Amino acid sequence: VKRITVNSILEMKSTGEKISVLTAYDYTMASILDAAGVDIILVGDSAANVMAGYETTLPITLDQMIYHAASVSRAVRRALLVVDLPFGTYQGNPYDALNAAIRVMKETGAHALKLEGGVEIKQSIELIINAGIPVMGHLGLMPQSVNAYGGYGLRATGVREAHKLNSDAQLLHELGCFSVVLEKIPAKLAKEVTEHLRIPTIGIGAGIDTDGQVLVIHDLLGMNKNFKPKFVRQYLNLHELMEGAVQHFVSDVKSKNFPDEKEQY
Ligand code: KIV
Ligand code: NA
Repeated sequence: VKRITVNSILEMKSTGEKISVLTAYDYTMASILDAAGVDIILVGDSAANVMAGYETTLPITLDQMIYHAASVSRAVRRALLVVDLPFGTYQGNPYDALNAAIRVMKETGAHALKLEGGVEIKQSIELIINAGIPVMGHLGLMPQSVNAYGGYGLRATGVREAHKLNSDAQLLHELGCFSVVLEKIPAKLAKEVTEHLRIPTIGIGAGIDTDGQVLVIHDLLGMNKNFKPKFVRQYLNLHELMEGAVQHFVSDVKSKNFPDEKEQY
């Protein structure tokens, strides 16, 4: 199979082919997503939420991200593998950010990294790109900044924040980012940014006009009963299917229906 590269992703913007992106955090899930033909597999720091049960993405560590990313990497044959740098590794000293970036690249087999923010993290992005590491930007709702926002509401509804988002997107392009995630912003703004930007935009809760779409795999599969914001499309109700299967197993054990004669030695 022909591998997806950052160049293939850039090309998709010019040919108008939409870019499909999903998260994965482990080997088995990643092998399914890769075989199904998703263009980019993102080892998101949303692992903090869906894997570890934290309320925010802030607690996940660099070592934990590396564990998830290395597991995913062993499964990926075709997709471009992008890994989130976790909170605290790139907001301070840019050389610390570069060291964290290099660790992820050396220890996981990632093809690119994703960082949240614009002008505030300019130097970190510059150093990482200068080291030959492709960077995906992330603007709009940046979950690592949840404490500054006071919640996970829609971003860039006002003129000032919309203007800053536009100029940050332009800056990310100038710094050499190969794409940018736009999270939870008005569809109209996402369309405008996408039209003015030469690098592809990947939307989540950002409407139909971005160059690609990303979802957290657990949300797409309907694994979490209590999380269904309107930007999520649930393609399965896996929570219900899995609960049913487990209930079936429990009752088979209780009723001595499992194992049967063919399931023993
Ligand atoms: O961590 C994550 O899952 C993400 C995507 C939702 C863009 O950053
Ligand atoms: Na993330």
